[in-house]
Parts: sequence; C-alpha cells; structure tokens
Amino acid sequence: MTVHDMQFINSEVAHVWRDVRWVESVGSTNALLLATGKPGDVLIADEQTAGRGRMGRTWVTPKGSQLCFSALISIDEVERAGLIPLAAGLAVTDVVPDANLKWPNDVLLGGKKLAGILTEAELNTPQPRVVVGVGLNVAWRREDLPVDTATSLNLEGRDVEWDRFAADTLLALGERMRQWRDNDPQLLGDYRASCVTIGQLVRLQRPNGDVAGVVDGVTETGEVIIDGVAFSAGDVTHLRPTR
Ligand code: BTN
Repeated sequence: MTVHDMQFINSEVAHVWRDVRWVESVGSTNALLLATGKPGDVLIADEQTAGRGRMGRTWVTPKGSQLCFSALISIDEVERAGLIPLAAGLAVTDVVPDANLKWPNDVLLGGKKLAGILTEAELNTPQPRVVVGVGLNVAWRREDLPVDTATSLNLEGRDVEWDRFAADTLLALGERMRQWRDNDPQLLGDYRASCVTIGQLVRLQRPNGDVAGVVDGVTETGEVIIDGVAFSAGDVTHLRPTR
C-alpha cells in the first residue's frame, strides 16, 4: 500500500474537515462513513469492493485507480439539499479546471467521464446528514477502464501527487459547501458556466419514462429544465458531441 502522509493532509484541511482517514480497502466509502462517521469526517480508500454508483449501479474502484473518498456533512436546510451533488461536481472541476459537468454531476474531461459522484442523504432525522462520495479517475491502465467513454488523469498526460491532490480536492469541496451553506449565488453561477448539458439536445432516462429535448437551464434547486419542464433525477445522454 502506498504510504500517505495523513498528518500533512489533515493539517492542510483541518479548518474544514475534522478527521481524514485513508484505508487500503473498503466495501463502499459512502456506506461505511454513513454507518460509522461523524459530520466532518472523510474516508479515502485505495480500493472499493462494493462501490455504489448513481441510479443503483455499481462503481468499480480497482486498487490505486481513483481518488476515491466520501465526506460526511451535517445540513440544516434540507430544502436546498438537491444542490449538494451539483456543488460536489463543481468542486472536482476546481481541481481539474479544464473539466466540465454533465448534469447533475458527471465530471467530463475531453467529453469523457473523469469522475462520478454519489451523494446519499438521511434527511428525516433531527440532524440531517449527507454523504458526498467521489470517484475521480487518477491512474488507470487504459485496458482496465470499465467503459471506453471514461478517462483518467494519467491517460490525459497528467500525473498528480496523491496527498497534495487529495488535500486540494477536499479544500475545493469544503469551499463549495461553504458557498452552499451561505446560499452564495456564485455557486449556481459557476455551475451553470461549467455545465455543458445546458443548451444541449439530450435524452433523460427516468424510471417512469424517457424524455428528449433541449436543456434550457438548471433551476435554483438544481433541477434540469428540458423544453420548459424541470426534472430532479435521471440519466442524461448528450445527443450531440460535447466540447
Ligand atoms: C456514478 O455513478 O457516476 C457515481 C459514482 C460514485 C462513486 C463514489 S466512489 C466513493 C463513493 N463510495 C461509493 O460507494 N460511491 C462513491
């Protein structure tokens, strides 16, 4: 296992995250942190054996392939919780500035998926909590990528120093969550600027039926607007190539 300087990472992010742990292997960082974590905790893993993806899919995290982590956040304004997944996607674009977003939060680099984000929430409790889970492709062998529509930083010629990159990503997430808490308009402004789904002809796959149309924008609560109708969930396919 690569040795990580946890003292360095923790000291870099201490004003935002109370405890960062890095483990070799875990089922799902989201599941473990939701079950055992406290608000402000971060769990990073080299490998997941039962990683969870959006829409009930699985998420593959072979050892050393991703910056794979979850962060546990306690929230007061559950009405605005729908913006948290978008804020998390934006945080990844802060550390990979030429990446952009497919609604709600797939991070694309050169039109290929660089990172996936799954937020899971417990909202009907006295202290609502959200776990933000990020799988950011850092070091894959091309032949191991699960789909050819994915990419990885190393495959785009970018090498990162893991500990610095982990700290920077956590700082970016902390800052975007601060904007969320403060209801700072910059958050949605930056999201809309980075979201290449806006203006696109898309297909939205939903459990109760697909919708196709042009995306007019994203609402104040994070829904995608297709031909004037807002949708809160689903899988978007861009029907034309994206930048
Ligand atoms: C997607 O389907 O695009 C979302 C994938 C989210 C994967 C991350 S990896 C860290 C965290 N733990 C999980 O089990 N899933 C998320």
